[in-house]
Amino acid sequence: MQISPEMIDCLRSSRRICALTGAGVSQESGLRTFRDAQTGLWSQYKPEDLATPEAFQRDPKLVWDWYAWRREALKGVRSNAGHFALARMAENLPGFVLVTQNVDGLHRLAGNQQIIELHGNIQRVRCIDGHGTFESWITGEDGIGRCPECGAFLRPDVVWFGEPLPRLEFENAISAARSCDVFLSIGTSGIVQPAASLPYAARNRGAKIIEINLEPTPLTNKADYFLQGRSGEILPALVEAVFGITGAAIEDPRR
Ligand code: OAD
Repeated sequence: MQISPEMIDCLRSSRRICALTGAGVSQESGLRTFRDAQTGLWSQYKPEDLATPEAFQRDPKLVWDWYAWRREALKGVRSNAGHFALARMAENLPGFVLVTQNVDGLHRLAGNQQIIELHGNIQRVRCIDGHGTFESWITGEDGIGRCPECGAFLRPDVVWFGEPLPRLEFENAISAARSCDVFLSIGTSGIVQPAASLPYAARNRGAKIIEINLEPTPLTNKADYFLQGRSGEILPALVEAVFGITGAAIEDPRR
């Protein structure tokens, strides 16, 4: 990892920063990334075969149970230093916009107030017939949630493969990308569209691209700066270098 004075200046002098996060940001909280192999009960399935409208149509119980298992796995999971560092960036930079592909809600738990959740949130469900979105629900005898309005199945309020992103969220994300001076791409493989197009939209309008990832990605050779390593280490180091916020104060701004 190399945080250069030039990169620090670039962040300090920027008026608008747009950050896009992916599953890698939650990896240090103990969550598997999307492309890691699944374990245990679910090891025979690929997420790509469960997170689709067709899978839900074919076997709603299987898909519902997979999300219930993932929600269970989130219990007791805490935000990590990378999430906290992004919350400090948002506080210290008025023009900071956080866009995430993660459905785990860990950015909010870390204190980020305004988050563009491109792929929804696993803690919410919605009626398959469009009668609303809910944060708590009751299940039928088969264990699948039912809409309190019409009795239809509930499904997780997340974006599945082959589905469009929520329109307003994507419009806000693309406009943040097009108007930022610096775009941060953090812990994402950058292969799932249309989220993966955001750094390019920023770059086409002249923004500097900073990428943070354990490994190079398709974006790496287009990035102005590539910080290779764990986001839970690099983001706090960036916040310290740019804002002088150190150690415990990154997790708890009152200190
Ligand atoms: P992926 O699982 O595709 O990629 C995770 C990325 O994080 C990889 O590039 C890793 O190298 C990197 N990584 C892992 N641990 C890291 C760490 N501690 N610090 C920094 N980087 C780390 O996850 P996403 O890119 O988020 O979509 O996947 C994007 C979308 O594809 C997901 O939102 C999901 C999936 O299909 C839907 O469900 C619609």
